[in-house]
Amino acid sequence: MEAVKTDKLFVPALPTLWPSMLTGRRAPSHFMPFGARNVRYFYFARNAIWTTVKMLGLDAGEVLMPAYHHGVEVEAVVDAGATPRFYRVGSRWDVDLEDVEKRIGPKTKALYLVHYAGFPGPVEEMRRIADKHGLPLIEDCALSLLSADGSVPLGTTGDIGIFCLYKTLPMPHGGALTVNGSRQYSLPEPPLPPTSSTFSHTVSSLLQNLELRGGAFGRSVRGMVRGLGKGAVKAAEIERVATGTQHFDRRHVDLGMSPFAHRIAQAQDLEAVVERRRRNYFFLLGRLRDVSAPLFNQLSPGVCPLFYPLVVDNKEQVLERLRARGIEAIDFWKYFHPACDASAFPEVAKLRRSIVEVPCHQDLTPEVMAEVANVVRDALVPERPERKNVG
Ligand SMILES: Cc1ncc(COP(=O)(O)O)c(C=O)c1O
Repeated sequence: MEAVKTDKLFVPALPTLWPSMLTGRRAPSHFMPFGARNVRYFYFARNAIWTTVKMLGLDAGEVLMPAYHHGVEVEAVVDAGATPRFYRVGSRWDVDLEDVEKRIGPKTKALYLVHYAGFPGPVEEMRRIADKHGLPLIEDCALSLLSADGSVPLGTTGDIGIFCLYKTLPMPHGGALTVNGSRQYSLPEPPLPPTSSTFSHTVSSLLQNLELRGGAFGRSVRGMVRGLGKGAVKAAEIERVATGTQHFDRRHVDLGMSPFAHRIAQAQDLEAVVERRRRNYFFLLGRLRDVSAPLFNQLSPGVCPLFYPLVVDNKEQVLERLRARGIEAIDFWKYFHPACDASAFPEVAKLRRSIVEVPCHQDLTPEVMAEVANVVRDALVPERPERKNVG
């Protein structure tokens, strides 16, 4: 399902929930983590990371992590008791494998690889380094659900796969931990999240969908319901456990995934999701490569892009312009975790100043993408210096 063209551009950052997804159901999927033999579902990916540190007994040791990180995955590792150490990532999101190996020391207890926005990191090479040093490999696919490196699904090479579901699929919440290989861990089933929280996220996503499809009418209904909803949430003291937040909160570390979220996952046409994201990415690549040098000039087979990483010089200004025109662009990974010395990783510091996340998800039609491309092109035009009024 895709949105129809409406009067004003509305391009939400995440895909929205279509009413038919509340009742639809498809055959079990082979995609990770749904097809994994050994999987535990959580409210967030961060809970899966915290649990991994405890489960593997890394809490008294060091975990070697990329200097290019979100920050919340590092917070989860720290909260669970481990110490993060950082390795170099280059200006094209490329992991410096030599640096990884150089930084392994007696206290290193695990290697941590992040696959950025669906683009596969060097997981085979990291596997080899991990095996050589007898370390477990954690493969963070929080931004890379449904993505593969050729025929190898991301999250299947590491000892552990970490997934976030709600960034790629229109789910109210959802994360997963998969254990690969033969080792078995007995993990308690996490408690269900508050129903009110699931309900609140679901309604928000349905309203976004209404706006996406309903133009001016949908927009005014959404505005009205949001106003009422905020009051009701406050009045009823509904606990809304926010997703997509910057920081780790120990109070939510146990929360699992609701059966309702599982149901929505089962209603998804995952092959179509991958195909549409790739189509939209290619479209932007073709329309933008002459105004902004692409970070990736191609999309390898199997890659499911989470967004289009737009490289800009004037991030704040571009973000402001895109948002003013109805595109929910996101400031991608602005901050280092405080445990990471920014001055030691200049390429990462530059990336943090220059990547804007432009949506290319499954709800966006070719017509909408054409408008997105035009708006982005406009936003990239440098501001003309103000003309002085002479005379
Ligand atoms: C690399 C990475 N790992 C883990 C997470 C945590 O995901 P969640 O919000 O599901 O906890 C994020 C969040 O953006 C992330 O970017």
